[in-house]
Formats: sequence, C-alpha cells, structure tokens
Amino acid sequence: MKKTGSFLFASFLVMCIFCGNGLFAQGGGSGPGPGPGNTIFGNKVADTPHNLRKARNMGVEDLGEVCVYCHTPHNNNQQIEAPLWNRETPVGPYDMYDSPSIDMIIAGSATGVSLACLSCHDNTIGLDQVINIPVSQFGQVTLQGGTISGCASFCHEIHHKTTFEGTVMGTDLTDDHPISLTYDPSQDPNFHPAANGQVGALRLYGTNKDQVECASCHNPHDNSNRPFLRMSNENSAMCLTCHDI
Ligand code: HEC
Ligand code: HEC
Ligand code: HEC
Ligand code: HEC
Repeated sequence: MKKTGSFLFASFLVMCIFCGNGLFAQGGGSGPGPGPGNTIFGNKVADTPHNLRKARNMGVEDLGEVCVYCHTPHNNNQQIEAPLWNRETPVGPYDMYDSPSIDMIIAGSATGVSLACLSCHDNTIGLDQVINIPVSQFGQVTLQGGTISGCASFCHEIHHKTTFEGTVMGTDLTDDHPISLTYDPSQDPNFHPAANGQVGALRLYGTNKDQVECASCHNPHDNSNRPFLRMSNENSAMCLTCHDI
C-alpha cells in the first residue's frame, strides 16, 4: 500500500513536471496553428526544426511521432554511434577537410555520430526513410528484408524528400570545419586540454572519447543556441573552448 502510494505520488510529480514544460513551451511558442510546437528556437526537440513532423513542406511523411525520425526502441542500427539509431548508415564517400597547417589526424571518412547527422544532412537518404516505422501509428506492417524502407516506399508512400536544401552539406566536407579528427593538444599548443572525453562543456566521441564530431559542437535536441549549438558562441566562446588563441 505504501509502495503504491509513493508510486502514485511519483507519477503525480512526473506529470507536474511535464505540465510545467508544456506550459512553458506553449508560452515560448510563436506562430499559428496546433501541433507539436511552432518555434525553432526551442530547447525541446519538438519545438525545433528537428521535429520532422513539421517538415511536410519538404515532402516529409508525418510519422506521427517526433523521436522516430532518428531513434527506434528496437532493431536499431548499431553501426552508428548514436543510441537506438533508426536510420541507415550513409555511405558517402566523403571528401574530408585537409590543409597544410593541420597537425592532428583526420579520418579518411566521416565516422561515429557524424554519420548520424549526415544520414540526413548529406541529402543522400530521405528524411523520412527510417528503419522502423511506428506500428502505433501505421498498424502492423510486413517487414521486407528486415527493414521497412522497401515496404515504406510503396506501402505508405514514404519517399525521398525533394526540397531539403537549406542545410544540406552534401558529401564534400572539405569546406566545413574538420570532423572525425582526433583531438590531441600535444600536437598543437593552441588548444585547451581535454579531460574525461570533454573539452570544457563540449563532448568528444569515439571509442577513446577523443574525436571531434558534428555533435561536439551541435546538440541535435536543443536549438536554444541556434543553430543547435552546444553552447552560446557569442564572442566565439564555443570556438575558444577548444582553440586557445
Ligand atoms: C534529428 C535527429 C534526432 C531526433 C529527432 C532526436 N534525437 Fe536523440 N539523439 C540524436 C543524436 C544524433 C544523438 C547522439 C548525439 C548526442 O549524444 O547528442 C542522440 C542522443 C540521444 C540520447 C542520448 C543522450 C546522450 O547524452 O548520450 C537520448 C536519450 C535521446 N537522443 C533521446 C531522444 C528522444 C527522447 C527524442 C524525441 C523526443 C530524440 N532523442 C529525438 C538525434 C536525434
Ligand atoms: C532525420 C533527419 C536529420 C538528422 C538525423 C539530423 N538533422 Fe539537422 N536538420 C534536419 C532538418 C529537416 C532541418 C531543418 C532544415 C531546414 O529547415 O532547411 C535540420 C536543421 C539543422 C540545423 C539548422 C538549425 C537552424 O536553426 O537553422 C543544424 C545546425 C542541424 N540540423 C544540425 C544537425 C546535426 C549536427 C545533426 C547530428 C547531430 C543533425 N542535424 C541530424 C534533419 C536532420
Ligand atoms: C567545430 C564546431 C562545429 C562542427 C564540428 C560542426 N559544426 Fe555545424 N556549425 C557550427 C557553427 C558555429 C555553426 C553556425 C555558423 C554560423 O552561424 O554562421 C554551424 C552551422 C551548421 C548548420 C547550419 C548551416 C546553415 O546554413 O544554416 C548545419 C546544418 C550544420 N552546422 C551541420 C553540421 C554537421 C552535419 C556537422 C558534421 C558533419 C557539423 N555541423 C559540424 C559549428 C560546427
Ligand atoms: C570541439 C573542439 C573545437 C571547437 C569547438 C572548434 N574547433 Fe576548430 N578545430 C579543432 C581541432 C581539433 C582542429 C584541428 C587542428 C589541427 O590539427 O591543428 C580544428 C581546426 C580548425 C581550423 C583549421 C585550422 C587549419 O590548420 O586548417 C579552423 C580555421 C578552426 N578550427 C576554426 C574554428 C572556429 C571558427 C570554431 C568556432 C566556430 C572552431 N574552430 C571550433 C577543434 C575545435
């Protein structure tokens, strides 16, 4: 009895927390219409451009959920260093950054969590082309070859988006800040030391927790420091978290 009571109390608390967030999100929202939030500056995924339910103008199928465009509870893609990943691995090939003054090692191709970002942002895989479509929204569907994408293209008319242009990087990453490179200040004194897989508040990735990847600078869930920055870059504060110049 006591247990049930405290469980109920805990649930009540959790509900209250969600109420609070709901109200807050509503207050911060702008623009007309119902739906899962309208702002793009939100600190909750649903209120950001990473809520792909809002991307119908790009020809994206509304899968009825928010996380599903990136995560799935089952049968996820373990090749990608992002938890419970619901998208295929993009194959590139990627042209990586190079310059004579680079001192650290840049991988031959994009790796780790960067592949998660590139599975949309290189524009080779449809935004709504996920591994598992939510059964809760679409009912039981027949899997084809273990993935749903084959079925998706004709069962649900899930298609490659055609108008994802604004934030597309393509596979040529030579004109972008280097990624998939080993953070090693011993090779260059103009960098702050890393500790426990972090440089300040910024996270390094990979088996040895020493890789600079897209997600070192970007938090895909939180657009309060637009565009999805891990921290404010006012006065280049984020750049200077790593660079000591
Ligand atoms: C647009 C893609 C995208 C969407 C949508 C998305 N995520 Fe993520 N998520 C990622 C990526 C990429 C990572 C790995 C990078 C990281 O750790 O920040 C991640 C990591 C996570 C993690 C691990 C966090 C950590 O610090 O290691 C959790 C938990 C998570 N997501 C939950 C969610 C939930 C819940 C939703 C829906 C409300 C959601 N995500 C929506 C892309 C997404
Ligand atoms: C499921 C597909 C998908 C994944 C995965 C994804 N994105 Fe996006 N991202 C989008 C879409 C769609 C937009 C909105 C594009 C637009 O409006 O042109 C966007 C927008 C952005 C923006 C611009 C935000 C703004 O306010 O202008 C940034 C930055 C970004 N994504 C970074 C990332 C990074 C970094 C990752 C990986 C950690 C990632 N994205 C993963 C689909 C994705
Ligand atoms: C070293 C930090 C860093 C890394 C690594 C990084 N970005 Fe960014 N990115 C930024 C900053 C800072 C901006 C904002 C630039 C601006 O405001 O002009 C940005 C902007 C963007 C935008 C918005 C561009 C636009 O035209 O609106 C996208 C999309 C994006 N990044 C995706 C990615 C992806 C995908 C990766 C990995 C392949 C990546 N970023 C790696 C720092 C980084
Ligand atoms: C997470 C850490 C990190 C952040 C944040 C970061 N950088 Fe870097 N940056 C690096 C590393 C590591 C290198 C590779 C340095 C080397 O090998 O000498 C690099 C390389 C560069 C280079 C190329 C240097 C060359 O020799 O070609 C430039 C320019 C640069 N960063 C600018 C920026 C700017 C501008 C920002 C902020 C928008 C930024 N960086 C944010 C870690 C970071």
